[in-house]
Amino acid sequence: MRAILLGPPGCGKGTQAKILIDTYRVPQIATGDILREAIAQETPLGVEAQSYMDKGLLVPDQLVIKIIEGRLKQADCESGFILDGFPRTIAQAEALDTTLAGMGLKIEYVLSIEVDDAELIKRLTGRRICRACGESYHMAFNPPHKKDICDSCQGELYQRDDDKETTIRSRLKVYEEQTAPLIAFYTGKKILYPIKGVGSIEEITTRLKGVINA
Ligand code: AP5
Repeated sequence: MRAILLGPPGCGKGTQAKILIDTYRVPQIATGDILREAIAQETPLGVEAQSYMDKGLLVPDQLVIKIIEGRLKQADCESGFILDGFPRTIAQAEALDTTLAGMGLKIEYVLSIEVDDAELIKRLTGRRICRACGESYHMAFNPPHKKDICDSCQGELYQRDDDKETTIRSRLKVYEEQTAPLIAFYTGKKILYPIKGVGSIEEITTRLKGVINA
């Protein structure tokens, strides 16, 4: 299965990707996670990416395209993959098509998760992430059993720097301007599937699987 989870910040891409990779046995490829890891390790990529991410801006296309080109050629992608947070611009989508075409492959599903801005702001301001395993929680909607402790690995939960309200607003604006045009791009290719993103996490998983299993 080769799928893209598309949607604004906080729509549930990461939450759903983690559930779907267990069902379909394919890797999740999340450019945001790869970039945060590079920042934590203070690599040259991380140093360059941080200044953009702190402001809620997109990291330049050529940097993320290079990451994805390398990642898709790894052996664990042979049975498929779920892209989470990539592509985010038309240039990235075109580069993805070119890379996959070179491997004789195509994207099968672009699952576009739709959530309004007021709900996105609530979700992002309440989000907490596990420092150890990356599991995502929400203080009200999906709380851990013990405050600030991950249910899965007992790691410490933290709030992402870009989950402050002013940065969230700039991420939403960037989404509208630079990423939302991908909806028309993939509609034109007849592989876009709109998914209502409001409801319980389980309900949204059912909607996504309904498209993939159809
Ligand atoms: P990235 O890490 O990809 O962030 P994002 O796209 O902004 O998405 P989020 O991770 O914030 O949200 P999500 O949709 O995964 O939601 P989640 O499941 O966590 O990117 C960060 C930055 O990296 C970018 O701003 C950019 O600078 C850079 N970057 C990354 N990729 C790039 C690229 N391709 N090009 C250029 N730059 C790039 O859910 C959110 C919260 O809601 C959680 O608390 C969760 O528990 C809760 N929740 C989930 N589902 C539900 C539900 N159904 N009901 C209630 N609550 C729910």
